[in-house]
Amino acid sequence: MAPALAIIGAQWGDEAKGKIVHFLSREADLCVRFNGGPNAGHTVVDEYGVAKLHQVPAGALHSHCLGVLSHGMVLDPWALEEELAFLQGQGRPAPKLLLSERTHLVLPSHRIKEEKEGASSRLGTTKRGVGPAYADRVARRGLRLLDLAHPHYVRERLRAEFDVVGGFDVDQVFSTLMNFYQKFHERIGDARVALSQALASGKTVIFEGAQGTMLDVDFGTYPYVTSSHTTVHGIPWGTGVWPEFSAIVGVVKAYTTRVGAGPLPTEERGPLGERLREAGEEYGATTGRPRRCGWLDLVALRYAHAINRFTHIALTKLDVLSGFPEIRVAVAYRIDGEKVEEFPACSWELERAEPIYETLPGWQKDIQGAKEFTRLPKEAQAYVRFLEEVLGVPVALIGTGPEANSLIVRGELS
Ligand code: GDP
Ligand code: IMO
Ligand code: MG
Repeated sequence: MAPALAIIGAQWGDEAKGKIVHFLSREADLCVRFNGGPNAGHTVVDEYGVAKLHQVPAGALHSHCLGVLSHGMVLDPWALEEELAFLQGQGRPAPKLLLSERTHLVLPSHRIKEEKEGASSRLGTTKRGVGPAYADRVARRGLRLLDLAHPHYVRERLRAEFDVVGGFDVDQVFSTLMNFYQKFHERIGDARVALSQALASGKTVIFEGAQGTMLDVDFGTYPYVTSSHTTVHGIPWGTGVWPEFSAIVGVVKAYTTRVGAGPLPTEERGPLGERLREAGEEYGATTGRPRRCGWLDLVALRYAHAINRFTHIALTKLDVLSGFPEIRVAVAYRIDGEKVEEFPACSWELERAEPIYETLPGWQKDIQGAKEFTRLPKEAQAYVRFLEEVLGVPVALIGTGPEANSLIVRGELS
């Protein structure tokens, strides 16, 4: 069986999927983004510097690994060119990419629509036009990459879009899209067929989730979600292949963060939250916004596990918890006076949830850069084991710093 690994954000995004995917792609043949678009910001810190990836799959920073942008994404050609230029400026080899011909485009009009609809203030979106691009897709008026081979159709669609939205230069957008097609047409193709062949011939494929389970359009805290399928279910939906996964890795930050609006039961609004934000450098990779911070939420994580059926956990940013006298973990909620153990489907109910905490002892030793589990303070080891017991899933990787090698590897994944 071909090793197919799914790497999925288990919380509200920014769990450090980029670092984990980059690590697991060391020997992968393909790395596939299957959802989201330029709203994602996946950080990789390696010998070339810090790369904040928005649309380029993190595995594609390894020159042997083909980065696939599949049709579950929405693609912003302007942002992609910018991102590639940035990576080139860092002295990196150009990533090898395959773009699915079925991928819908994010156009300048989508950002304008997002602003007009007020989605950015109501939901705290990333203002990248991602929601309106997905909306146009299901409304059957989107432009796909394969349409760029048909200039008449593109011009017609852009004119129609201008009549409704206004605010952009049709000729300029048209000519940029044509130039993009000129430059990239050899890298546009049937990604489903390529993936299917790669899996059949035993190649190693990593599926890189964007955002996190709680931001999934169906399973997340609707309406405070993104517009795509962020869970493992997004993989068949967004690629057209249904792999037998050798591992489904839930990426879990050792505490909780969220950027944007919506319920967050364990949020710490006072000095504790501030301390987590400073220690974890919790500022958005895409927008620079300060992230809302709080304790680990096991009610939400049990729910994320029920949806994704994780085979392994990658626990990231454990180093950030060093120095706290005690560490709290939500094990249930109290809603309207009643104890609740299931994650509510309704955001209005979740907004009233008060966490019921279990308190674990903290540790004082700085563990930045630690590479061996047995050398961690016993309280840090106990924290990891507590999580394993509650979820019933082994913690295979532990992040101890932003750098690629600040990682504890406790077991093979495939
Ligand atoms: P992603 O969207 O899930 O890929 O996560 P982001 O890149 O948006 O946010 C994760 C942030 O934490 C980035 O700034 C990373 O460089 C950083 N980071 C990753 N792993 C660790 C870790 O184990 N410890 C610390 N302190 N920082 C980390
Ligand atoms: P990565 O892949 C964290 C959030 C936004 C907003 C909501 C909808 O880096 O984990 P959108 O622009 O998608 O319509 O915004 O989703 N959001 C993210 N939060 N990490 C992300 O990506 C996010 N992508 C979108 O803040 O609350
Ligand atoms: Mg991010």
